[in-house]
Amino acid sequence: MTWNVEEFVRAASVTVEGLATYVDESQLGLPPVLRRRPPRELADRLGLVRWIREGGMTPESYAEFLAVYLEEGTRLHHPAYLAHQVAAPDFPAALADFVHGAINNPMAIYELGASAATVEFEVLRWMLDKVGYGEAGGGVLTHGGSLANLTALLAARAAAVPQAWTDGVPGDLALLAPASTHYSLTRAAAILGLGERAVMPLDVDELGRVDVARLPEALDRVRRAGRRPMALVANACATGTGLYDDLRGIGEFCAANGVWFHVDGAHGASALLTPEYRHLLDGIELADSLIWDAHKMLRTSGLAAAVLTKRGADLDGAFRQQASYLFYGDQGFDLIGRAVECTKAELGLKIFLNLAWRGERGLGDYVARQYETAHRFWELARERPGFECPYEPQSNIVCFRYGTGDQARIRERLMEDGAFHLTSTEVGGVRHLRITVMAPATDEKTLEALLDRIGDLDRLAGE
Ligand SMILES: Cc1ncc(COP(=O)(O)O)c(C=O)c1O
Repeated sequence: MTWNVEEFVRAASVTVEGLATYVDESQLGLPPVLRRRPPRELADRLGLVRWIREGGMTPESYAEFLAVYLEEGTRLHHPAYLAHQVAAPDFPAALADFVHGAINNPMAIYELGASAATVEFEVLRWMLDKVGYGEAGGGVLTHGGSLANLTALLAARAAAVPQAWTDGVPGDLALLAPASTHYSLTRAAAILGLGERAVMPLDVDELGRVDVARLPEALDRVRRAGRRPMALVANACATGTGLYDDLRGIGEFCAANGVWFHVDGAHGASALLTPEYRHLLDGIELADSLIWDAHKMLRTSGLAAAVLTKRGADLDGAFRQQASYLFYGDQGFDLIGRAVECTKAELGLKIFLNLAWRGERGLGDYVARQYETAHRFWELARERPGFECPYEPQSNIVCFRYGTGDQARIRERLMEDGAFHLTSTEVGGVRHLRITVMAPATDEKTLEALLDRIGDLDRLAGE
């Protein structure tokens, strides 16, 4: 049962070679960006049932398996990958995943990974500094933005109703949020015991951005309904449109009215690293809590998200727990009291290695480049007949329509042969196509090719 170290070295080098070819071909855009063979057929192709039943994989048979596995997946490094907000990981972060896979130091308690925990502390300190919270702030890395939002709202709940942990949640709490917030926030409200109906919509403009001038009315509505505002949420940026809320305006309103201000910066907080786009996050330091995903714009694999609070004590208040086998009184270096997870992966290492390799500047340049490429797409699309863009993009997310037909059908047609992978969403109740420029390989040529292709689909449909 011990490792055969020689076998490991052979299997690892097969993996490195396989991945090097995979990323190289993907970046060059040679194979289709995605394939979607039905699962039964794919299971056969991968020989899954036989492998599970019989075992016996060797470095050689593993190499064959891996080649098919990679071929049948979705290529996030491909220039035509323009779909979900998932990073095309940079290789230093991939190395961290590999190290974690081998050493498995679940560092939420310090004795299970002093280096991993220390790396996380320093990464968090760096993030807190970027936000402007400094030494007084607190943070923890979690497995994803959804869990991060839940954790931040737990801290908000503890601040509003400290006894909720022991006595349950009173029925009068409210969460104020624009309808454009990510679904994980309403989900968190339901998990937290507030109930989805406790999420009261803020007034927004035609693009779903919080209307700051109408915040007093919203607060009045909440109070007239006999509810207490537990927190108010803003987007930085919104998942659907990629547009940022006015954080300073909202933050000042919350501060003046004693309302906990939570910013969902899962996607857009990485713009803190770019002098060109930092202004979009002006006022972020006013937030009582913030989330920031590294597996979106800091180029790590899923999942690695930060929950940051302006006051460290607020995050400590999120959970209260006894467990004689893990909690031993004063545990100054343990993060377990701040996270939902018990066994928590070494998430800091992925962020750290990307920083160590590329520097804060390199990561910031990546964010700026992706935002600029998206802006270029908007410029190109507007010049072409038949394309309509409802707003000027602020991030690497762009929504647009082509013609008057079924936009979802256009997306399906583009994905059918793996030429392009994009998503779609509603803006102002109308379905749009949506791109997110994630891959560093996406360039102007890719964007022109996408626009050509959409026009061609229309022509073919008309013939
Ligand atoms: C704004 C925003 N918040 C939260 C999330 C959820 O993050 P995760 O997928 O890491 O759970 C997303 C995911 O796309 C998002 O865009």
